[in-house]
Amino acid sequence: MSHNLLKGKRGIIFGALNEMSIAWKVAERAVEEGATITLSNTPIAVRMGQIDDLAQKLNAEVIPADATSVEDLEMVFSKSVEILGGKIDFILHSIGMSPNVRKKRTYDDLDYDMLEKTLDISAISFHKMLQVAKKQDAIAEYGSVIALSYVAAQRTFFGYNDMADAKSLLESIARSFGYIYGREKGVRINTISQSPTLTTAGSGVKGMDHLMDFANKMSPLGNANADECADYCIMMFSDLTRKVTMQNLFHDGGFSSMGMSLRAMHQYSKCLDDYADKDGHIIYG
Ligand SMILES: NC(=O)c1ccc[n+]([C@@H]2O[C@H](COP(=O)([O-])OP(=O)(O)OC[C@H]3O[C@@H](n4cnc5c(N)ncnc54)[C@H](O)[C@@H]3O)[C@@H](O)[C@H]2O)c1
Repeated sequence: MSHNLLKGKRGIIFGALNEMSIAWKVAERAVEEGATITLSNTPIAVRMGQIDDLAQKLNAEVIPADATSVEDLEMVFSKSVEILGGKIDFILHSIGMSPNVRKKRTYDDLDYDMLEKTLDISAISFHKMLQVAKKQDAIAEYGSVIALSYVAAQRTFFGYNDMADAKSLLESIARSFGYIYGREKGVRINTISQSPTLTTAGSGVKGMDHLMDFANKMSPLGNANADECADYCIMMFSDLTRKVTMQNLFHDGGFSSMGMSLRAMHQYSKCLDDYADKDGHIIYG
């Protein structure tokens, strides 16, 4: 249902690959709420993914760009302003990739060239985006910029690997740039820390199905899905949140504030039963 929350606003959505992508859902909701948008992803993702279908459906132009390339980003911003007919009101950075995770390098055996790529793609691209936008003065006053993060920035999660470092850096960039861009141009910058979600990037995380089940059982409201994440992004892009900036906003059904839930405790004790002998002695500690 539309509330016209983004009526007349212009946006750029980075990172829609296929129907499962969080950025895909955000793009759909943004247009439903009255915005006009451009879409961007890497040239290979544009060729191999389904972004053209989305673009057709939403009457949006696709501007291929590698988000680690300042030159490509300059083109995305200047073209978007031209196509949409004015300064940009909202931006979604929904980009993440770790070559170390892909190549199954563990955190104590990282390849450092790959680590640089992880950080460049998943975090520094956010700085590059903001710096390019500011130099071009491409974002309107009270514009809203969101990047998607994960709670592994604060706490250690098995298998999340060097993406945890990337997310910490991403959240730090939101604060550091948020201060400067807010002070000088009234632009707000936040990260949304989303529940584990079944997407192409999400399925790269080791033990993703167990992680999702655990998070779901730990969260009083259950995991937040991609559609719900899109709703939250829309609210953050809207004029209803004009004084929210430099925050990492948890959108996780309460997971990040929990220690132990009844449901998780129940599951845990069931597992212990499986590992105990008939007298209740634990077989595997
Ligand atoms: N899925 C989850 O469980 C989860 C949870 C919390 C946060 N997030 C974050 O949400 C964001 C979106 O991921 P998703 O889960 O929708 O998966 P996804 O795979 O659909 O999206 C990741 C996108 O990053 C793009 N990308 C990779 N390298 C790029 C580059 N060099 N330049 C431009 N784009 C590039 C990919 O083409 C893809 O579209 C990521 O930042 C991810 O870390 C995901």
